[in-house]
Amino acid sequence: MDRLDDSAKLMIVSDLDLTMVDHDDDENTSLLKFNALWEAYYRRNSLLVFSTGRSPTSYRKLRRERPLLTPDLTIMSVGTEIAYGDLMVSDDKWEQFLNWKWNRDVVVEETLRFPELKPQSETEQRPFKVSFFIEKDKGPQVADALSDCLEKRGLDVKVIYSSGIALDILPKRAGKGEALAYLLKKFKADGKVPANVLVCGDSGNDTELFSVPNVYGVMVSNAQEELLQWYAENVKDNLKITHATERCAGGIIEAIGRFQLGPNLSPRDIIDFKGCCCKVETTDPYFEVVKFYVLYERWRRGEVEKLEVYLEHLKSIFHAEGIVVDTSGNERSREELVDGMRGLYGDMKGTQFRSWVDGLSSSEIGSDSWLLKFNKWESYSSSSSLSSSGNQFMGSSTTILMTLQRKVSEDGLIWMHVHHTCLDGSHSHQELQHF
Ligand code: GLC
Ligand code: MG
Repeated sequence: MDRLDDSAKLMIVSDLDLTMVDHDDDENTSLLKFNALWEAYYRRNSLLVFSTGRSPTSYRKLRRERPLLTPDLTIMSVGTEIAYGDLMVSDDKWEQFLNWKWNRDVVVEETLRFPELKPQSETEQRPFKVSFFIEKDKGPQVADALSDCLEKRGLDVKVIYSSGIALDILPKRAGKGEALAYLLKKFKADGKVPANVLVCGDSGNDTELFSVPNVYGVMVSNAQEELLQWYAENVKDNLKITHATERCAGGIIEAIGRFQLGPNLSPRDIIDFKGCCCKVETTDPYFEVVKFYVLYERWRRGEVEKLEVYLEHLKSIFHAEGIVVDTSGNERSREELVDGMRGLYGDMKGTQFRSWVDGLSSSEIGSDSWLLKFNKWESYSSSSSLSSSGNQFMGSSTTILMTLQRKVSEDGLIWMHVHHTCLDGSHSHQELQHF
C-alpha cells in the first residue's frame, strides 16, 4: 500500500479465473496485452489488486501456470484473506474483524444435513470459508435453507453461489465487496483515496464488488448467468457498470477505454507487428522497456519480418560502449548482443514462447537518466505437455541504465548498461538470461 507516495490514479480490483485469466486461451493473449498496458502506463502511479476465490495455495499454483503480474494487494478465499505487497504480508486485523457471529465447527456440522453438498478439497477450506460443490439447479435453494439453519444456531453468515457449481459459506462481514470497502476505508484514513476504482468480475462471488459505492465495474463478456441475473435485478441503471463485449482481460481493457480511465491501447497492439518501429512517442522509459520485450518475444517467435531493420534498431538504441551482464555474470558488448540476437531469430517459432515484464519501477538519477528495475519473465511450452500448466517460467531481476539523447532530428532513449540477476522464484536456472 505504501509503494505510491500519492493517491492511486487508478485502482483495478480484478477477479482471476475467467476474468483476468482466460482458461480457454493457452496463449494468454489478452492477459499479456493487459500486462503490457499496466507496466507501460499504470504501474508507476496505480494499484493492482487481485480478488480471488482461491486459497493462498491454489492462488500460488495459478501464478506458476499463468503470466500474472505481481499485484499490490491480494484478496483471497472470497474476501476472507487480505495480503499486502509481493511478500504477501497478511492482514491479521481483517481476520479478527471477521470473527463475529462465526463458528466454523457449527457451520460444518449444519452442512452435514445437506447431502447435495460435496466438500471441496482441503486446500480450499479456510478459517473463514467453508466450500462445497453443488449441482447447478440446487444451488440457490440450498443456499437459502442453509442460511436459515445457521441463523437459528446464532450465526450470521453469507452463502455465495458461483459459476453454477461452487457454494461458499463465509462470515457476514466477509466477501469480496466487504474486503474492498475495508481497504478503501484504510486508504481514506491515510488520505490516499484512489482517483478511480474499477472492479472486474465474471461470477457469483464477484457480485458484491459491483455494489461497492462509487466504483466503476466491468462484467466481462463471458460472465456467468448468476452474475448477469443479479445485475439485471439489482443495478441495471448504474452507468458506471458495463457488460463488456470482450472476454476476460480484453473486457478489462475495453472498460478502461469506455470509462476513460487512462490509456487503453496496449503496447502489444501499437507496435508494428512486422517491423520493429512504432509511431508513438518513444522517450518514455517505461514504454521503452515494455516495447523491447514485446519485440524480443516476436523476434524469437519469428514474427518480425524486417530483420535487418530490427537489428539496426537494436544497435541504435544501445550505447556503443554499453554492456550487458547476463545471469552468469558474463559481460557482453553491443556487437556481441546484436550477433546473439541475430542467432535467436525464430528459434521459438511455432511454440508458445512469451516474454513479459513485471513490477517495473524507475528512478531518475540525474537529468535525462533513469535507472529501471523490473522482473523479466520468459515462458516456454515444455514438450511433455501442451497444456498451459506445462509451461516453464524463467525469470531474472533486471536493471537498466538509460539516458535520453537529444538529437536534432528526434530524441531517443539510449541503453547504457543492462544487468540480469537470477530470480529466486524462477522455476529453472538452466538457461542463461542474456536479454
Ligand atoms: C475458487 C475457490 C473455491 C470457491 C470458488 C467460488 O474456485 O477455489 O473454493 O468455491 O472460487 O468462490
Ligand atoms: Mg471468476
